[in-house]
Amino acid sequence: MERSIIIAPSILSADFSDMRREMDVVRESGTPWVHIDVMDGLFVPNITFGPKFISDIRKHSELFFDTHLMIVDPIRYVKNFSDCGSDCITVHVEACKDVVATLNEIKKHGKKCGLSLNPATDIHALDPYLDMVDLVLVMSVNPGFGGQSLIAECLDKVRYLNEVRGDRKYKISIDGGVNAKTIESVYESGVDVAVTGSAFFNSTDKKGFVSSFSQGKSN
Ligand code: DX5
Ligand code: ZN
Repeated sequence: MERSIIIAPSILSADFSDMRREMDVVRESGTPWVHIDVMDGLFVPNITFGPKFISDIRKHSELFFDTHLMIVDPIRYVKNFSDCGSDCITVHVEACKDVVATLNEIKKHGKKCGLSLNPATDIHALDPYLDMVDLVLVMSVNPGFGGQSLIAECLDKVRYLNEVRGDRKYKISIDGGVNAKTIESVYESGVDVAVTGSAFFNSTDKKGFVSSFSQGKSN
């Protein structure tokens, strides 16, 4: 049987004025995950929303909340982003003063922990932490905005993470530029989770989108 990957629609490309409806759209597509991009205007040149917004959509959704913190010194806000209903909290290796302390803080709050890296960051920067994480989020665009093109070299990081995984349980996720043109190579690289923002929300058949993309095919 073909392996199936998780499709995590990124609400960055949703209509923020109608987010309750957009959460229903994600649920009705049949996918179990939703990807939630938090930006502080410092770590990335864009600002999105904070924990209050996540706690409000949590009331209307039972999906797995995959929260991606693109914020400086994220340990300061782990409690807030836990309490608002995240299931997994992912932080950037470039943004943490103390990566181990930050990951432990996430675990302390009973959440899955993820670690992400930008396209320019060497994959070996994650080596010391691979035993600790539940998710590795490989950025395949420079974070900040939806609708950018996937940087193909980032797929080598996915292959590396697969090679060295061994008995470790982390999932490998990719974020940025996953669309009809790239899904096949993304799937072939060995990801477990593919984040997709603009391609998902622009699609007219979201159920078809999720069922084909999860099999590595464009619909
Ligand atoms: C980029 C965000 C992504 C973004 C992906 O900084 O982390 O999650 O929404 O959007 P697309 O799929 O449009 O590249
Ligand atoms: Zn993201």
